[in-house]
Amino acid sequence: MAFRSLAIMPNHWQQRHKLPSKINRMSLTSTGVARSKKVAYKGGGSGALKDPEALIRMTEAVVKAVDLPVTVKTRTGWDHETRIIVQLARELESIGIKALTVHGRTRAQMYKGEADWDIIGQVKQAVDIPVIGNGDIKCGDDVRRAFDDYQVDAVMIGRAAIGKPWLFREVKNSLTGEAADAGLSYHERLDAIKAHYLDSVAYKQDERIATLEMRKHFSAYFKGFPGAGKMRAALMQASSVKEVMSVFAALQQTA
Ligand SMILES: Cc1cc2nc3c(=O)[nH]c(=O)nc-3n(C[C@H](O)[C@H](O)[C@H](O)COP(=O)(O)O)c2cc1C
Repeated sequence: MAFRSLAIMPNHWQQRHKLPSKINRMSLTSTGVARSKKVAYKGGGSGALKDPEALIRMTEAVVKAVDLPVTVKTRTGWDHETRIIVQLARELESIGIKALTVHGRTRAQMYKGEADWDIIGQVKQAVDIPVIGNGDIKCGDDVRRAFDDYQVDAVMIGRAAIGKPWLFREVKNSLTGEAADAGLSYHERLDAIKAHYLDSVAYKQDERIATLEMRKHFSAYFKGFPGAGKMRAALMQASSVKEVMSVFAALQQTA
């Protein structure tokens, strides 16, 4: 399955996105979660939550314009006082979206505080379309709670997978009750990180840019990695495949 994401941008959004003609065999997801000020204060991304009528109008236009299932991902509201998500969900359902993902925070919260799963549960009760719950899912138990206590149809995992992409396997094993996942060994982790890095280099076709962009991932991957403080610092300085590979070679010697 493939997804194409469209951040809601009221200003000239139709011209910018030239919607229907090129999109096929894809589901279209319009997101109202973007937290960037530049986007949100122009009424785009989560800023659309400030003007729910416009959000509905634009989403309806998308639904009518494309011959594809349209889904929406959004937050619970602009701020604590305007948590409109339950009513918004009903309206989005009535204009024909096929599924709704709710990040259980307001725009004002950014990523602070806890995601409000009670309100995600209320959304699930309010509509018949599939509801995907999002916010603070970090392990199999969190997923089980989301299914059992809030009856969502699926969950979406964000930050917990950064630096730990094998989390999805752990969650799956936890849910299916397969043998407890022992996690990745030191060398398996190194191999996974290296594969991610080399894929990025191949994808970017520019080793310097790929290496610089990987720094945030290296930082996440090596958080708490046994004895990797010095190596992590070396990776933060590296700007070529050769330099990165020499750090990996040193890491592979130690264990
Ligand atoms: C670095 C980063 C980039 C993100 N980019 C997007 C994006 O492009 N579109 C989107 O809908 N949400 C985006 N999000 C929000 C996440 O999808 C998710 O809603 C949010 O992180 C809450 O889930 P979590 O608690 O599992 O991280 C991003 C989050 C982070 C941390």
